[in-house]
Amino acid sequence: MGKAASKKIADPFSIGINLETGEMANPARHLVRRASDMRGHYADPAALEKLIKDQGDPLHYEVFEVPVPQEDGELMYCISKLQPGAVGGEFFMTKGHYHSVAGTAEIYLCIRGGGYMLMKTADGKSAAEKMSRGRMVYVPPFWAHRSVNTGDEPLISFCVYPGHAGHNYGDIETEGFPRRVFQANGQVVIR
Ligand code: F6R
Ligand code: ZN
Repeated sequence: MGKAASKKIADPFSIGINLETGEMANPARHLVRRASDMRGHYADPAALEKLIKDQGDPLHYEVFEVPVPQEDGELMYCISKLQPGAVGGEFFMTKGHYHSVAGTAEIYLCIRGGGYMLMKTADGKSAAEKMSRGRMVYVPPFWAHRSVNTGDEPLISFCVYPGHAGHNYGDIETEGFPRRVFQANGQVVIR
């Protein structure tokens, strides 16, 4: 008897996603991160405090998802929408995370805007892949990942990853990523 026989088989479904705005029909979960949630992540903490004070703790990024069971065999999917902006010249970015089940990959299909996916492994490897409309970034198992918006409109991606992957912010808050993305004299610079 197959595995499916011991488990209730879910019904198929479909949803609409607006490819211009990233809006997902009836998202069951809406994660909002504001500038104050990003303390500890930017190279210039004073610039972040100034932004929070001057701009009233602006929206940084949102994640819209319709959760599926957090089980092996399921595929979780979401829309990630990262606002444009900079903190002390460093472009707005997500916190970044490993997956709790570290050996699980993720696909990001960029549907609007532009930027980079910064990635690192616990044993010191680092990578940056460009994100632009219609470009897919494959985040292999064991790579922590953070997206960075280098444009002047929201960076919107459709993400797909195993249902049991989970999020592990582990060493990100203490060590960050080896590379950062800045604007300098109108150019995008990865340091
Ligand atoms: C899921 C995933 C994205 C991020 C989202 C927010 O595995 O990679 O949905 O969760 O872009 O980023 P974090 O979780 O780093 O705040
Ligand atoms: Zn992820």
